[in-house]
Amino acid sequence: MNRAFWKEAVVYQIYPRSFQDSNGDGIGDLRGIISRLDYLQKLGVDVVWLSPVYKSPNDDNGYDISDYQDIMDEFGTLADWEELLAGMHERGIKLMMDLVINHSSDEHAWFVESRSSKDNPYRDYYIWRPGGPNGELPNNWSSIFSGPAWEYDEKTDEYYLHLFSRKQPDLNWENPKLREELYKMMAFWLDKGVDGLRMDVINMISKVEGLPSVTHEGLAPGDLAGGGEYYMNGPRVHEFLQEMNREVLSKYDVMTVGETPGASVEDAILYTDEDRKELQMVFQFEHMDVDAGPTGKWEVTPWNLTKLRDILHKWQVGLAERGWNSLYLNNHDQPRMVSRFGNDGKYRVLSAKMLATLLHTLKGTPYIYQGEEIGMTNVKFPALEDYKDIEILNMYREKVTEGGADHDVILNAIHVKGRDNARTPMQWNAGENAGFTTGTPWLKVNPNYTDINTEQALADPDSVFYYYQQLIALRKKHLIMVYGDYELLLPENEYVYAYSRTLKNEKWLVLLNFSDVPQEVELPEELAAVNGVIVGNYGGEQPAEERGTLRPYEAVVYSLKS
Ligand code: NOJ
Repeated sequence: MNRAFWKEAVVYQIYPRSFQDSNGDGIGDLRGIISRLDYLQKLGVDVVWLSPVYKSPNDDNGYDISDYQDIMDEFGTLADWEELLAGMHERGIKLMMDLVINHSSDEHAWFVESRSSKDNPYRDYYIWRPGGPNGELPNNWSSIFSGPAWEYDEKTDEYYLHLFSRKQPDLNWENPKLREELYKMMAFWLDKGVDGLRMDVINMISKVEGLPSVTHEGLAPGDLAGGGEYYMNGPRVHEFLQEMNREVLSKYDVMTVGETPGASVEDAILYTDEDRKELQMVFQFEHMDVDAGPTGKWEVTPWNLTKLRDILHKWQVGLAERGWNSLYLNNHDQPRMVSRFGNDGKYRVLSAKMLATLLHTLKGTPYIYQGEEIGMTNVKFPALEDYKDIEILNMYREKVTEGGADHDVILNAIHVKGRDNARTPMQWNAGENAGFTTGTPWLKVNPNYTDINTEQALADPDSVFYYYQQLIALRKKHLIMVYGDYELLLPENEYVYAYSRTLKNEKWLVLLNFSDVPQEVELPEELAAVNGVIVGNYGGEQPAEERGTLRPYEAVVYSLKS
């Protein structure tokens, strides 16, 4: 058991645009965050992961950076940022910045240079290719935000690669000068006292040489076809990360988490095995695909506990010896967890607490997304015009406007899966715009803010907020929550996720009912010897004879007699 801060920590993610506006322009900002630091301290989190705050034209809300070393105008100034950092440190909270270095904005000075001529010194900072003789694209990869991954640029009669929007050209990591510049930029922030880095799609930085086209059977000329196998976990990614570690990370005490869509357990071990000196943990996506269909996330598909548990279990076992898990059920790219995996109606509070129990009692580092701690839910805007996310809008255009798909089917998919579910403004109180802004919010507030808001939560001792506070405090007291070995129980039960955690002679039993009806559980005898309840979402002790029945969405953690 190698103890480490980043294993024992609880991280809270802030999506600044939607957290708290301080100047009435309808957009969250740094001074808004500063005004809410006491709230975060009260919750008890150790680290804040701040989604990007750098200069950006906001094609993808800050994930398109035009200046890595300055702050977005809407969010404030570098001086505000310094004050934010100081305010966090005063409260014992560390700051994890978002590092978006697979791509930049097309408005970054490097790209402006790069596109200006073929012999510009910055040309090779990006990935340029000529088209085919008959105007074909350089290859058949599609962009993750719909359409081709290539954009034609008239000036030099070539195409540039963009795995995301056309305003997010991919950086060319094959170029050592580019890498050096990125490392220098990272040192700039780390020298200022940044404590952690979350690395955006970091497993996409190395593309297979020659950028080959996908060659599935049945593909007609001109068809687009993903391409992930040629850029996710690519040939040089580990070499690049080890270089980054040598050149920058190893020189600081810095917490790291890499976002790695498409990474398997085996990949994750390579990224996070401490001996390999790459990253500390990754965000894997397998459990986020549990309700995706064969054509991807927009094909809404029912999930069930068996599928979800199989995935989480695989990752628990897979990283038990080497590597480390991150634990999350939502973030700014995912629908709200209580709507997706719980019940956002009658059992909203109970199921939000049940899911929180899962996140805090599996082995790994828990990540809380803003609003999760008060049980914020998905939103169902009736009109497409209410949505702002580029992924949603591009997808709608491709599928409905150009592709003729049914509007209602796609709108339903947006309601269930769209990223704007997570991006509606933070609900602070029942007043105008949920206390988020005095102006017009950039994205509408979820109408349920009159019931679900932090003021209500702080006034209610049984709120989701206080349950999170309790779980976070427990983690500080009980090393078993961090380091205890995980073992799956009741593998055949379709509605209850049960497991134990063991550290030396301490043993805990976790029972989670994922259904809205009571569930009987039969536990192996040696586990039946309950010492006491550590935490539970129904509160209080239950008479021993009723312990075999879990109430709807009940979560309970027992300590067992050893
Ligand atoms: C992952 C980020 O989390 C997401 O919000 C963004 O759109 C893409 N990477 C591109 O940067």
